[in-house]
Amino acid sequence: MAVKKKTGKVGVGVIGVGIGRLHLIGYTESPDAEIVAICDVNEERAKKAAEEFNVPNVFTNYKDMLALDSIDAVSVCTPNYLHAEMTVAALDAGKHVICEKPLTTNLKDGEKMLAAAEKSGKILMTAFNNRFRGDTQVLKKLIEEGELGDIYYGKTGWIRRKGIPGYGGWFTTKSKSGGGPLIDIGVHVLDLALWLMGNPKAATVSGATYAQFGPKGEGISAYGYRDGGGGFDVEDLASAFIRLDSGATLVLEASWASHIEKDDLYTTLVGTRGGANVDPLKIFKDMNGVEVDITPKFPNQPGHTYEIKHFVDCIVNGKTLISTGEHGLEVVRILDAIYRSAASGREVVLK
Ligand SMILES: NC(=O)c1ccc[n+]([C@@H]2O[C@H](COP(=O)([O-])OP(=O)(O)OC[C@H]3O[C@@H](n4cnc5c(N)ncnc54)[C@H](O)[C@@H]3O)[C@@H](O)[C@H]2O)c1
Repeated sequence: MAVKKKTGKVGVGVIGVGIGRLHLIGYTESPDAEIVAICDVNEERAKKAAEEFNVPNVFTNYKDMLALDSIDAVSVCTPNYLHAEMTVAALDAGKHVICEKPLTTNLKDGEKMLAAAEKSGKILMTAFNNRFRGDTQVLKKLIEEGELGDIYYGKTGWIRRKGIPGYGGWFTTKSKSGGGPLIDIGVHVLDLALWLMGNPKAATVSGATYAQFGPKGEGISAYGYRDGGGGFDVEDLASAFIRLDSGATLVLEASWASHIEKDDLYTTLVGTRGGANVDPLKIFKDMNGVEVDITPKFPNQPGHTYEIKHFVDCIVNGKTLISTGEHGLEVVRILDAIYRSAASGREVVLK
């Protein structure tokens, strides 16, 4: 029999305890939350996490977990292809949901998720953890105050030397992941750049994808695992040129494996009054004809923990959601267009 929660706090259930561990840490550090249950099809993994985080209930079937009245909110931290099914079921059961990135693998499922949130009146948050870091929060504040002026150009990327994750497992299987590095790590930098640029919508997208390492069994991460027994049918490099409805343009690149000197993670934004780099944060301006670097101080704020604190704050105190389901869906819309453009060799026009 399920153990009830002890307090009047927000009762939480976490589905999937890979990255789900970071959600568990976030809830542990949120005074208004109490972790009621963990669910993972890997029972051993679930039990180990439950022991570590002192969680009373363990499930291997998420539907059984959703039946608990003491659960008010759910973290969906499972492989991409399960996000839609689990999120819709949780919202239909009257729970708030924070869903890991990417929101889902395709537009149709994303629209179903948003419709379920609308119908339930519950929160649907996309777990874009990079928005909640100390450096990016400070930069966003300065941008909103006009410090960079109008941002008209951005470039962002995450390129690994050798970093294919979970070879042969769900990460490298298109039907389960929706794609390769574009949907895995490109999603992070794409969202970060769009958010900092004020969430304009994409107007046109031109993309290309390549698979030069994965199909040969090369480029596998030293920290990765060869767990799957499956193959590799996704890209290992993607690049895109995106025209935004604000008139700005954004260049995006994402790769799990490339012949480069070392891993590279960057975002550069150019505005009419200033420019900024992220990773690491730097801000550049001209003052009285002099070039200055006005890089600000920022709090050391881990994104994953503060994203969860924000989710709980929205539930308890009605705070305005920073990272919405709509934002998650807009990213999926752009990723979908990049893959379509790559397949056709032509620019895709979005309505
Ligand atoms: N925000 C980030 O920084 C970040 C980092 C890594 C992964 N992710 C995202 O988190 C999600 C999970 O990635 P991961 O790296 O943790 O993967 P993973 O494979 O390491 O872990 C997924 C977990 O889900 C469990 N699972 C699978 N099917 C399940 C089911 N039907 N019911 C319950 N549990 C199930 C697995 O047993 C596993 O423990 C993906 O969407 C990924 O894109 C986000």
